[in-house]
Amino acid sequence: MSDRKRNRIIALILAVICVTALVGCGGSDSKIDKTIRVGVVTYTQDDPFINAMTDKLKSQLKTMENSNMKVIVSVRNGDNDQREQDEIVAEMIDAGCDVLCVNLVDRTAPANIIKVARQNDIPIIFFNREPVHEDLEQWDKLYYVGCDAKESGDMQGEIAAEYIKNHPEVDRNEDGKIQYVLLEGEAGHQDAISRTDCSVKTLIENGVQLEKLSYQFADWNRGQAENRMTQLISQYGDEVELVISNNDEMALGAAEAYRNSGISEDKWPAIFGIDGLDDALQAIKEGTMQGTVYNDKEDQAGEMARLAVDLFKGNSLSSHRLQDEKYYVSPYQKVDVDSVDDFLHR
Ligand code: BGC
Ligand code: CA
Repeated sequence: MSDRKRNRIIALILAVICVTALVGCGGSDSKIDKTIRVGVVTYTQDDPFINAMTDKLKSQLKTMENSNMKVIVSVRNGDNDQREQDEIVAEMIDAGCDVLCVNLVDRTAPANIIKVARQNDIPIIFFNREPVHEDLEQWDKLYYVGCDAKESGDMQGEIAAEYIKNHPEVDRNEDGKIQYVLLEGEAGHQDAISRTDCSVKTLIENGVQLEKLSYQFADWNRGQAENRMTQLISQYGDEVELVISNNDEMALGAAEAYRNSGISEDKWPAIFGIDGLDDALQAIKEGTMQGTVYNDKEDQAGEMARLAVDLFKGNSLSSHRLQDEKYYVSPYQKVDVDSVDDFLHR
């Protein structure tokens, strides 16, 4: 072999080694600010509020894409089974996800998820279903994005009290008391517990005399609430004057039960929900619901998207104004017929 030929072969081998090395470290280097993979896992696929928030999260994350950074979002759900959700999280981590957004099935059981994320150094932003404080303290890369449930209960009590003051006809049998039914979300959910307590307490503090007819769990679900309410209508006829619901879906289920009951609309109770879902805003416009409390999914999704990107890039989190360096608390807003247009089509 001639010297020239040997030199060319050596140069070629060196070039191949260099390119391989560049691609190799380029692969992990470019991961730093080129492609962020966000894994989003919800507790079920059947929750309209969670689905609406997840859609916002996907679009918010996509708006953060630019020429230096590609965003890949993958969304899955735990099918209401904590063990299944644990497995999905492990699979997402295996598949190379950089940041996790987790809406726990069982908010008291995040241990497996935290363990595997920590082993792989993948930060977790929990949302909507709040782990207990001790669990969030287990590692410094655990965050929570959600709301102060007490605030939503207080606001719901305030708008209901205000409505009753301005509409004395709510007390249809004129006995000075408001006969009411309360529809509760999932047992053990931080929002269900506080909303129930706080809305009733606030109504009473605002001078409304209440008479409790029934409390019913309906699991956040429209169909279940419709069934419960149909049952209550067969028991109480048109005696119910007020329905307080832990969320809009159940409030809409109650309205549906009245629609199917044959009771004339002037004898329907005043109905209040929480969330500000489009169907509920529409119902407020049409007068089949009287109010709700806006659970700001745009704000929560926006915060999660910004936090995910900052965590990925290793940026300072000071602009996020996190409480205890972990919690983002999104404010609620009251919605009634006068303000409903400000919230429609956000
Ligand atoms: C919402 C409910 C939803 C639940 C799911 C609550 O904050 O108000 O509509 O079903 O979260 O965890
Ligand atoms: Ca009454």
